[in-house]
Amino acid sequence: MRTVKTAIRSAVFPVAGRGTRFLPATKASPKEMLPVVDKPLIQYAVEEALAAGARRLVFVTGASKRAIEDHFDSDQELESMLQRQGKSDLLNQLRSVLPSYASCIYIRQPAPLGLGHAVLCAQPAVGAEPFFVHLADDLIRSEVACLGQMAEVYEAKRASVLGVEVVPHRDTDKYGIVEVEGERGAIGRVCSIVEKPKSAVAPSNLAVVGRYVLAPAIFEHLQRIGRGAGGEIQLTDGIASLMREEAVYAYRFQGKRYDCGSKLGYLQATVEYALGHEQLGRDFRRYLRTLDVARAAARPTRTGRGRRARGK
Ligand code: UTP
Repeated sequence: MRTVKTAIRSAVFPVAGRGTRFLPATKASPKEMLPVVDKPLIQYAVEEALAAGARRLVFVTGASKRAIEDHFDSDQELESMLQRQGKSDLLNQLRSVLPSYASCIYIRQPAPLGLGHAVLCAQPAVGAEPFFVHLADDLIRSEVACLGQMAEVYEAKRASVLGVEVVPHRDTDKYGIVEVEGERGAIGRVCSIVEKPKSAVAPSNLAVVGRYVLAPAIFEHLQRIGRGAGGEIQLTDGIASLMREEAVYAYRFQGKRYDCGSKLGYLQATVEYALGHEQLGRDFRRYLRTLDVARAAARPTRTGRGRRARGK
C-alpha cells in the first residue's frame, strides 16, 4: 500500500460494537481480532491509517476488547523467546505491528449507544483537529491507502469527506445512503444523507462505507442530536446536522472493499488475500483447483448419483 503525506494526525477506531453477526466467535474476543490470513482486521486498519499519515491512534473500546490492547502492546517475553530461537523474521514481524512513532490511546465507551456516540467518546483525544474514522470490519484493498486518498480530498476541499461506493439497490437498508450534487469525477457534494433507507425510498444507491475524514465541528453536532434509528446516536444523523452548517463531500475511493462484518464478505476477503499472499498464494491456488475438481465430481446427477459413481 502506497503512503500519502497528509496533515491529519488522529485516527479513531470505534471497536465497541458486539459483533453479533459473528457470534459465538465474538462472544469473548473482538470481531476486530478476526484474522484475514495472518493479521487481525484491526492491524490492517492501523496500517491503512499510518499509511495516510495518522500518528495518534484512538481506539474506542467496550466489553471484551482487551485483546486489542494486548495486540498493540509489546510482549517482551515472546520477543525474548523468538530471539533465543533465532526466529528473526517472526521477531521483525512482531516488532513492526506498531512503529515507535505511533501512539495508542484507549477510551472506553461506557455502553454501546451507537457509532455516533463512539466517535463522540474520542473527542478528548482528538481535540479541535480534523480526524479519520476507520471501521475495521470494512477491509479495503487499494494501491494508495483509502484514508490517504480521502485526506487528499480533504486538503483540496477543507471539508469533511465520506468514503462511498455504489451498492445494489436491494442493499440500501444496510448503509447510510447519500445523495450528491455537482459530481466531478470521484467527488460530489453531499446534499442529503439517510441511515439505512429501504430501496423504495432511498435517494440513491451510493453507500457510505467505514471511512471518514471529519471536521472537528462534528463533535458539537453529535452532542446536540438525540438518539435516532435503533435508539442509538447515529453518526449519519451527526453528519446530516453538520451539513446544515458546512459542506460535506462524498468520495468514490479506488480499491476493493470487503464487508468483513458479514460472514460471506469475511470469507471472500480471506480467499482473495490468501491468493495474493507472497508465501501462500501459489499453494493456495493449487489447493482451490483440487477443490473445484472434487466438487464437480461430487455434484449430483439427474439420477441422484455422483459423476464418478455413474462412470463406473
Ligand atoms: P456495526 O453496526 O457493524 O455493529 O457497528 P457491530 O456490533 O460491530 O456488529 P453486528 O452488526 O452486531 O454484527 C459499526 C461499527 O461501529 C462500532 C462497531 O465496533 C463497528 O466498528 N460501534 C457500534 C461502536 O464502537 N459502538 C457502538 O455503540 C456501536
